Amino acid sequence: MERFHQKVVYQIYPKSFCDTNGDGIGDLNGVTEKLDYLKELGVDEIWLTPFFCSPQRDNGYDVADYESVDPMFGTMEDFDRLVTEADKRGMGIMLDMVFNHTSTAHRWFQKALQGDPEYMNYYIFRDAPAHTPPTNWVSKFGGSAWEYVPSLKKWYLHLFDVTQADLNWENPRVREELKNVIGFWKQKGVKGFRFDVVNLISKPEVWEDDTQGDGRRFYTDGPHIHEYLKELTRDTGIDEMITVGEMSSTSLDNCIRYSNPREKELSMCFSFHHLKVDYKDGQKWVLTEPDYAELKRLFRTWQEGMERGGGWNAVFWCNHDQPRIVSRFGDEGTYWKESAKMLATAIHLMRGTPYIFQGEELGMTNAGFQEIASYRDVESLNYYRILQEEGKTEEEALTILGARSRDNGRTPMQWNAGPHAGFTQGEPWISVTDNYETINAEAERRDPDSIFHYYQKLIALRKQLPVIAEGGIRFLETGMPDVMAYVREDGTDTLLVVCSFAGEERIVTSMGETWAEDPEAAEMILANYGDGGESSVLRPFETRVYRKMK
Ligand code: GLC
Ligand code: CA
Repeated sequence: MERFHQKVVYQIYPKSFCDTNGDGIGDLNGVTEKLDYLKELGVDEIWLTPFFCSPQRDNGYDVADYESVDPMFGTMEDFDRLVTEADKRGMGIMLDMVFNHTSTAHRWFQKALQGDPEYMNYYIFRDAPAHTPPTNWVSKFGGSAWEYVPSLKKWYLHLFDVTQADLNWENPRVREELKNVIGFWKQKGVKGFRFDVVNLISKPEVWEDDTQGDGRRFYTDGPHIHEYLKELTRDTGIDEMITVGEMSSTSLDNCIRYSNPREKELSMCFSFHHLKVDYKDGQKWVLTEPDYAELKRLFRTWQEGMERGGGWNAVFWCNHDQPRIVSRFGDEGTYWKESAKMLATAIHLMRGTPYIFQGEELGMTNAGFQEIASYRDVESLNYYRILQEEGKTEEEALTILGARSRDNGRTPMQWNAGPHAGFTQGEPWISVTDNYETINAEAERRDPDSIFHYYQKLIALRKQLPVIAEGGIRFLETGMPDVMAYVREDGTDTLLVVCSFAGEERIVTSMGETWAEDPEAAEMILANYGDGGESSVLRPFETRVYRKMK
């Protein structure tokens, strides 16, 4: 059994987690302070998003020095103490390696700008006339993916913000530098790594316009990606650790290769197809209702496909780039608690390692910001302008941001009902969501029926029933587009998981498996409505889990 199959990872966005010095910005000491809370929840690993020195144009994903702690988050001593304290409680720290690009403030890029050929070769510089970028590729944050440097008469590639210059992985020196970064943090006792947009690191050999899209088909899962990952893993020995790659617009076949242990690339992958079922024709900035039939189809394809190919999924709903799941596929109102529990069940009992994003275990909602001044994210601010340039009114642009902005996941962690939700004694860098008086950790830890305790139960269940970590998965036809059901099986144990995404009742007619309805044959081990209810009627957002022993 792989070590990471039984684990649950908790993602912390330090800037918004807990501020201990009153500057309004969460810090490393804040994470240390809350370790007992995480231990109580039961998680095994803590993934910290970047806290390295950075101009913070993209909240730390623009790294200026990979081997440092930005003073806004604390000191290297604070970090060492965090690792020690986590270790004492049996939890490991995972770090976020942003290796597709550096900040333009990085020493390497600064040398490149001065025309040093050695460092220019660390990045992707191309010749083309001023005003005519080398290709028509579009940055993920909007606008051209190329920036012209007049003093060099060259363009550099930035798939993200203009201050995030893409590294040239073809250059072996770049690969060595990045391996050293891994070595540095390994030596500090870090237990795992998350690799940011890592399937974008291998760029094509020829540079051409994309006449069908924004360019992604040329650099996604690029020509040398598997080689590079194998080399990185081999030379740093991280195959002993837990590693996860963030895979942007990837394919099932590639994810099987990234995560099949025989390939010695990564432990597991994040893919995002299931989080685009509410994008209109794949467009993030066009609102449409979630298509649950498509959601089920994608889960089935990926879950069953990864099992067939021997790959391993990171399973998740939320992260710092996504709106809050309860606001998105659940209900912020009457069925807030039930829908949050249903969504948790759906993910935690699938085949893969579950990731919980801070506050998800409390059912935290979208930010509910009403004005542009509340937003902080570079992508949101860019698209607020772009949407209006495309003809949307200010109000329409705000409505779209309200549903899609990454800031929805970045509001401060809601610890208690006190000022700023107990996140800071000062002024938070981004406003607290105004429902913190009811949705907060203190209240939920007191309430045995809370979302917090439900997550705790799901995590404990994974450790008790090996079928959750190791069993196979098979999706059932439910005859209803918004009711999902799957079976987990390992030869001894069988689980049936039923999840309704419907905001109203659903009558279960065909489930393909009748044993769930026979109390003699199966035991209901988990439900989000207290009494379990009538077997053939699913209440709004109802979930039930049945277990049958051989
Ligand atoms: C990943 C990160 C995101 C960041 C981007 C560029 O998608 O999760 O926050 O903006 O990479 O580094
Ligand atoms: Ca602080």
